[in-house]
Amino acid sequence: MPVKIALVTGGTRGIGKAIVSRFIKDGFHVVFTGRTEESVSRAQDDFTGNANGIPCNVADPAAVKTLFEQIVKDHGTLDVLVNNAGITRDGLLLRMKADQWDEVVNTNLRGAFLCCQAAVRLMMKNEGGGRIINISSVIGLIGNGGQANYSAAKAGLIGLTKSVAKEFGSRNILVNAVAPGFIETDMTAGLGEDMRKQLLDGIPLSRFGKPEDVAGVCSFLAGPDAGYITGQVLTVDGGMVM
Ligand code: NAI
Repeated sequence: MPVKIALVTGGTRGIGKAIVSRFIKDGFHVVFTGRTEESVSRAQDDFTGNANGIPCNVADPAAVKTLFEQIVKDHGTLDVLVNNAGITRDGLLLRMKADQWDEVVNTNLRGAFLCCQAAVRLMMKNEGGGRIINISSVIGLIGNGGQANYSAAKAGLIGLTKSVAKEFGSRNILVNAVAPGFIETDMTAGLGEDMRKQLLDGIPLSRFGKPEDVAGVCSFLAGPDAGYITGQVLTVDGGMVM
């Protein structure tokens, strides 16, 4: 059996990095991206196994085109795509600048759209189809004051997930979203003690999540046991939202 190829965007740290590590363990060859040459080469040094990093701003159509051309050149195909790259630029609605909105929507949602489009073109040619996993957020389900841009982008990802799942189900391309709750990464490291305590009080499992908690669910969704699941949102949040 040929080695399966997975692409994880934003795989240089946090949740994405844990997904890359898990997929390597699962036997994939993993292509991962990051924003900068430097972050990609730093992460590359940390991975032992079948992975190669390519710098790519997922919000930029030309960069995504180049990325997929490289994947075709190196591997000829793609079996799994994880749209994980994401950013926050929080602010209350009345003070939010249009740039702040665009930056977040472009990275989190436009980036995922561009990668989905390029990925399905390749996956349609695969005998076994493919898997797409979009990393949304519980904030896309319930909203959050100060995160209108992020919440809209993450809710948009759920709509994208369901639409692509419907469009490509007949080609055996399975598309699902994962909605993490509070996961300990650089993205959440800046939250103050009071906010952390308040959040923790609302989590039935009484702990914050680890990147590996999300990576395990992605492994399942990319694997053989998830062959009859598409268009779903799997919440990984210790019971925070139910
Ligand atoms: P992080 O900030 O630690 O890592 C983000 C990754 O995305 C980095 O590798 C970065 O290089 C990459 N990235 C950012 N902008 C990019 C761009 N334009 N093009 C390519 N790559 C880009 O974030 P974290 O916490 O690991 O989050 C990963 C995903 O999980 C994000 O989509 C985030 O919204 C989502 N998420 C995180 C939660 C958390 O509690 N940490 C909760 C819910 C969702």
